[in-house]
Amino acid sequence: MPLEKLRSQRWLARDDFRSFNHRSRIMQMGYDPQDWEGKPVIAICNNWNDYNPCHQHFKQRVDEVKRGVLQAGGFPLELPTVSLGEAIIKPSALLYRNLLAMEVEEMIRAYPVDGVVLMGGCDKTTPAMLLGATSAGIPAIFLPAGPMLRGMSRGQALGSGSDAFKYWDERRAGTISEPQWQAIVGGIARSAGTCMTMGTASTMTSIAEAIGMTLPGAASIPAVDANHQRMAAQVGRRIVAMVHEDLRPARIQTREAFLNGIAVAMALGCSTNAIIHVIAQARRAGADISLADFDRASREVPVLANIRPNGSSPYLMEDFHYAGGLPALMQQLKPFLRLDQLTVNGRTLGENIEGAECFDTEVIRPLANPVYGEGALAVLRGNLAPDGCVIKPSAMSAKFLQHSGPALVFDDYPSLKKMLDDPEAEVTEDHVIVLRNAGPKGGPGMPEWGMIPLPVKLLKQGVRDMLRISDARMSGTSYGACVLHVAPEAFVGGNLALVRTGDVIAVDIPARRIHLDVGDAELERRRAAWTAPAPRYQRGYGWMFTQHILQANEGCDMDFLRTEFGESAGEPDI
Ligand code: FES
Ligand code: MG
Repeated sequence: MPLEKLRSQRWLARDDFRSFNHRSRIMQMGYDPQDWEGKPVIAICNNWNDYNPCHQHFKQRVDEVKRGVLQAGGFPLELPTVSLGEAIIKPSALLYRNLLAMEVEEMIRAYPVDGVVLMGGCDKTTPAMLLGATSAGIPAIFLPAGPMLRGMSRGQALGSGSDAFKYWDERRAGTISEPQWQAIVGGIARSAGTCMTMGTASTMTSIAEAIGMTLPGAASIPAVDANHQRMAAQVGRRIVAMVHEDLRPARIQTREAFLNGIAVAMALGCSTNAIIHVIAQARRAGADISLADFDRASREVPVLANIRPNGSSPYLMEDFHYAGGLPALMQQLKPFLRLDQLTVNGRTLGENIEGAECFDTEVIRPLANPVYGEGALAVLRGNLAPDGCVIKPSAMSAKFLQHSGPALVFDDYPSLKKMLDDPEAEVTEDHVIVLRNAGPKGGPGMPEWGMIPLPVKLLKQGVRDMLRISDARMSGTSYGACVLHVAPEAFVGGNLALVRTGDVIAVDIPARRIHLDVGDAELERRRAAWTAPAPRYQRGYGWMFTQHILQANEGCDMDFLRTEFGESAGEPDI
């Protein structure tokens, strides 16, 4: 693109009063005109704060990005954004995903920026930043934070989330000592970087790579590896070239690219959260992706990445990276990919993975020896979830693939928790635990309560899995027979709101079916007696969120942020 056509030139290049203000204020920051004149302005959306342990290295890493931008003849400026430390934020980082997306979009729109580097990775930050950049529409490249080093405690590797859940249950069952527990607390997260299991963070950064929004191989580089620093500098160099080439997200994020992302997600044994984020992102990009695309891919694409929490894998993201990372996995997956799709480096996906080698076929399996024959997720439908719900067959006990049992229903988390901790609770492993009012509006923000801990009474009997159903989400690092994302949610009067303790619920995963064994007439009687709960928020962002949030099967975007909602104001030429 000719330099005089750059967007930033409208702010900075003219000889008028407004440009005088812009230029003098940039000089106020210590820059000379030769710092920016005739150069693309590159915004670096650095998603860092002191409460986000996964992004601690971004404070330094941004210097590498700037080095790359300067080398390539750009002018880098940091635009920090709200940072969502998944493990610490309450009630749920998903509540704030759209806030971050709006912030990224509007900061890009408001400032003289020609291209943007998105630094993120902790769970919701990847989709949030990509949602914002997609709607803003200028050239954008994603810089994944990279996984943290594998956890270690008393000579044993520990996986984020997965082992926390596992050992928490053991602690409740009384099988581990306090010193053992303390060693786990101190050993499970021991460097900067995102969760190193195949949770939402690794799932979403890998999907970003498969869609073509990161440099090839970037998603799995450990956060504290020198290769991550070099990748950051490459990102800085590349975004400047992308501005010159006018390579915008719209040219990369096609429906076919999202289908690549979904196929890769399945082969990774992805987090269930991927469904919500990919649907939202695709729709912002104008690509019609729905639950049906996930279910189709899940029936075709086997799980090839042998990473916790899938199956009984001992491996983590570090192992995956050393085995060749995503390019090696996509080599195996070629029959399921559209290789002609363009990526941020200006080459096609096929060109990027050409010659990629796998260095450990136990970690990245060939198609002939998958970890799990079918895909990672199953989308179930039936009268309990007319708009769908989700389960992860690759991370649950096979005996619950077909199960029916009496419901044990809870309207809120505190009453559920009371039962879970009661050694005398009237619960058997045949029961189906139901938690409701934990969806997009009810949670609010679909907290990760869907991996309901097992009742302590059953844990002590040796039970380690049972069927659980909710309109909540669960962490991608979770294990268990948990039906999630029930849509419509109970809070808006979905049939989940009508279930009573003792009703029989049947789940048949091979048939993709979920059924509440209560007749239609009785359901209608119950519906007439149902009253909507009071809204969770009376004011502020929470109010806006609950007024406008869409259901899980529609990606939990705000209705007014959808691309088809209308045009953003044009940029005034003043
Ligand atoms: Fe940040 Fe898991 S808490 S990625
Ligand atoms: Mg998570």
